[in-house]
Amino acid sequence: MAQVKKTKNKIKLPKIKVKNSGMINLQFYDDFPDGNLVIGESLKNIPFSIKRFYFINNLYNKTANRGLHAHKKLEQIIFCVNGSFLLGLDDGNTKQKIKMDSPYYGVRLGPLLWHTMSNFSADCVILVLAADYYKESDYIRNYEDFKKFIKK
Ligand code: TYD
Repeated sequence: MAQVKKTKNKIKLPKIKVKNSGMINLQFYDDFPDGNLVIGESLKNIPFSIKRFYFINNLYNKTANRGLHAHKKLEQIIFCVNGSFLLGLDDGNTKQKIKMDSPYYGVRLGPLLWHTMSNFSADCVILVLAADYYKESDYIRNYEDFKKFIKK
């Protein structure tokens, strides 16, 4: 790759209103028309050591609803690396929806944050970085249980 300038996404980032979340702005090398190279680094702009990643593709069902859970302890960052979807966040008091349509930022999914994913474009690819291995016992999959859990 030719020497190109490292740059930061200049689009206006959505404002986060819920607790235990935040925006992660990524730096990238813009080498148009030969591609953008986008970078995230553990314990730098990604605020934890990455133990696991997973991605979701083939989102052809426009009416699919994914997520619908919160985690007790897990820290994750969610990215939309291609296409778009709607991320719903709910900390038990405040709710908000974020249109995920840029690969240059991610959203922190901290503990006790109910989240949903919907309105997928067919070319949508979601990437999630996680601070720990998969553990079903860390999931809260029932909304009433989530409300009880945050009152504890
Ligand atoms: P789930 O986290 O419920 O998906 P989403 O929130 O996107 O709707 O996971 C779906 C299934 O995949 C569930 O049976 C658990 C399993 N799974 C793993 O085995 N390992 C993993 O790292 C993840 C994220 C899920």
